[in-house]
Amino acid sequence: MELRQVIDLFIKRYGGTEEGIRVFTSPGRVNLIGEHTDYNGGFVFPAAISMRSLIVLRPREDDIIRLSATDLEVVVEADIHKLNDYRDLKWGNYQLGVAYELQQDGYDLQGCDMLYDDTVPLGGGLSSSAAIQVATALAFSTMADEKAGVSREADMVYLAKVSQRSEHNYVGVKCGIMDQFASAMGQKNKAIFLNCKTLDYELVPVEIDGYKIVLMNTNKKRSLADSKYNERRGECEEGLAQLQTVLPDAECLGDISMKEFEEHKGVITNPVVRKRVEHVIAEDDRVLRSVEALKKNDLDAFGKLLIASHNSLRDLYEVTGIELDTLAEEAIQIDGCIGARMTGAGFGGCAVSIVREDAVEAFIQKIETVYTKKIGYAPTCYISDIGNGGREIKVF
Ligand code: GLA
Repeated sequence: MELRQVIDLFIKRYGGTEEGIRVFTSPGRVNLIGEHTDYNGGFVFPAAISMRSLIVLRPREDDIIRLSATDLEVVVEADIHKLNDYRDLKWGNYQLGVAYELQQDGYDLQGCDMLYDDTVPLGGGLSSSAAIQVATALAFSTMADEKAGVSREADMVYLAKVSQRSEHNYVGVKCGIMDQFASAMGQKNKAIFLNCKTLDYELVPVEIDGYKIVLMNTNKKRSLADSKYNERRGECEEGLAQLQTVLPDAECLGDISMKEFEEHKGVITNPVVRKRVEHVIAEDDRVLRSVEALKKNDLDAFGKLLIASHNSLRDLYEVTGIELDTLAEEAIQIDGCIGARMTGAGFGGCAVSIVREDAVEAFIQKIETVYTKKIGYAPTCYISDIGNGGREIKVF
């Protein structure tokens, strides 16, 4: 929806006038490369996209939070003093989880009426949840600061961390920091080369003139994705613990080089765990090489790294599945596509591809036909640009 429509709907749903209305937004992200490395202290290379979560809000006189969305009829009501009680909500737990974590950090929250408008496809691997969390964290922290008479710039890295914490504690997924960091810190036409151990980062211009980023949504209903995600995380921890018996200085898999892994991989007793670890360590190296390739504008090299990443996620990490494999493998057969891979956690969600601009239209048609024929339902393709991170939009 256009912003004006969201504001009109807000007034229709909650009453009142434009007075006091504020608008906050934060985007989804596409991870270009570096998958399942973040919670291993490795490197990632995501970028914010223009699909986003948008919040129109107005402060209330009491300590009630009311939440609603443009595509939902319901209004969820929560008491600021009972924020621990809403974990099992079907909708609204992402928002209230963030509010709860801010409160744990000492924020005196402001009661608000809030209307969400989300354009990131839900469960599509483009971080629809991080977009909601970071926008919410920015909104609540800004309003609480104003209530307390504190004037300061929002600390977006802190808000990314709070959002991640709420996903761990409130939602129950032990995600890394990548999604929330990208949503909070993204910048137009730049990708974020992030060291997830130190949170040092560099914004790298993505100048792929003549090419487009095409996102392809499997439209697969994800099931058990959260538990499989946590299971992969556990396997990495197991592999790390065994490697640490011979590499005591390694604090995370991100500290271990490919050479060290080759030398010591025998200490990992479970072959499945060994495969998982191999993926993480090699993927980390691919991120470094991808950043170099993009800086040199060597798109061919970048494309090859994307393909290698997908193959590793398919064969070693085993998080792809027939839908993502079909998209990534068929995409690179089509004229103009220089590389494709799954993006995000996997188990469904989206694949990302880099496609020559003049070939994009034919590419989308072809991939839709091939995928539909093989899988039985259609994918959705989006031509994506790289946008800005979380911010307040001053409208009034
Ligand atoms: C999800 C998580 C991220 C990251 C990716 C896989 O998007 O939220 O932290 O682990 O999966 O790279």
